[in-house]
Amino acid sequence: MEFKKIGIVGSGAMGSAIAEVMILNGLEVVIKDRTMELAQKGKQNATKYLQEMEKYVRNLPEREIKRVEKFGVSLSDEQKAKIRSSFPEPPDVEKIIQRLKVTDTYEDFRDVDLVIEAVFEEQKVKNDLFEEISNYLRDDAVMASNTSSLNITEMASHYRHPERVLVIHFFNPPYLMPLVEIVPALQTDGKIVDSVYEFFKGKRNNRENLVPIRAKEAPGFVVNRILIPMIGEALKVVEEGIADYETVDTGMKKGAGMPMGPFELADYVGVDIVYHVMESFRKELGDAYLPARTIKQMVDAGWLGMKSGRGFYDHRKKD
Ligand code: 3HC
Repeated sequence: MEFKKIGIVGSGAMGSAIAEVMILNGLEVVIKDRTMELAQKGKQNATKYLQEMEKYVRNLPEREIKRVEKFGVSLSDEQKAKIRSSFPEPPDVEKIIQRLKVTDTYEDFRDVDLVIEAVFEEQKVKNDLFEEISNYLRDDAVMASNTSSLNITEMASHYRHPERVLVIHFFNPPYLMPLVEIVPALQTDGKIVDSVYEFFKGKRNNRENLVPIRAKEAPGFVVNRILIPMIGEALKVVEEGIADYETVDTGMKKGAGMPMGPFELADYVGVDIVYHVMESFRKELGDAYLPARTIKQMVDAGWLGMKSGRGFYDHRKKD
């Protein structure tokens, strides 16, 4: 099975970044949102991620020259030219971004091979989307959800070909994080899972090759099942007065090698997203997974992390 044209539903942080990863790999992408303005915003984000990569790759040779010269080595023009020619060409942003089209209608999905939806994490919203999109996709298309913790078997039962549905779960931000969890619904044909796995094995993001892993359907699959309760435990440490947010984050970065502490990560991913995953765990796995009171209060207050300016930390610009 070949996936050449990809449809993305939802142009938010995840949708736009998944679209960027796909066009970077030479695929045609159409990204749909409720309005053209929203879809266009997704395209702007994808452009920004490509530009960041272009800048980084373009500066690599000069960085290398500076690094060598720091050791007191004086390089000739010829040596510098050799270093420059040994680095890859930066990506052609203008050309790559042309592969991304925007739309506000599923009519433009009639010829796509694979769809990944990345809309609001609510079961009914996703079920309705699967039902509606059934009227537009080709019989041989594959339909996927980027859900982090919702029920894919239920979504599949709302799709015309449930055997062609599965989870393709990216991590935030997809252009930097290489992991992709691939999870079948109860109804999914094993051949679909294999071909999606193989498809992602050959792809890359801005930094490195993607790493697909397989998992069974279960709340949070593999990574969130471990990561989200860890954030919950970090909250308990603070609520019990053992340490404050900063101290916990420092501890986990310096003592456990995490790139971000649990509270920095929650602010980065979105406090509401973390809370919703916690809530889904409580529903599916029991009260041992009850979210700490603090995080519910924060969601109620609109303290959602970096995107709202305030979360566990204050991200508002200070004058
Ligand atoms: N290619 C290769 N290297 C590059 C690059 C490129 N295009 N662009 C930058 N770099 C390198 C540079 O060498 C730079 O080093 P320098 O300081 O010498 O210039 C280095 O990357 C640093 O870059 P950043 O400042 O962007 O910072 P980091 O790379 O260190 O960290 C991060 C960014 C990857 C986001 C890291 O903080 C991280 O891993 N955080 C955790 C994120 C995470 O856990 N996400 C998952 C959340 S859970 C989830 O999403 C599930 C959902 O369902 C809830």
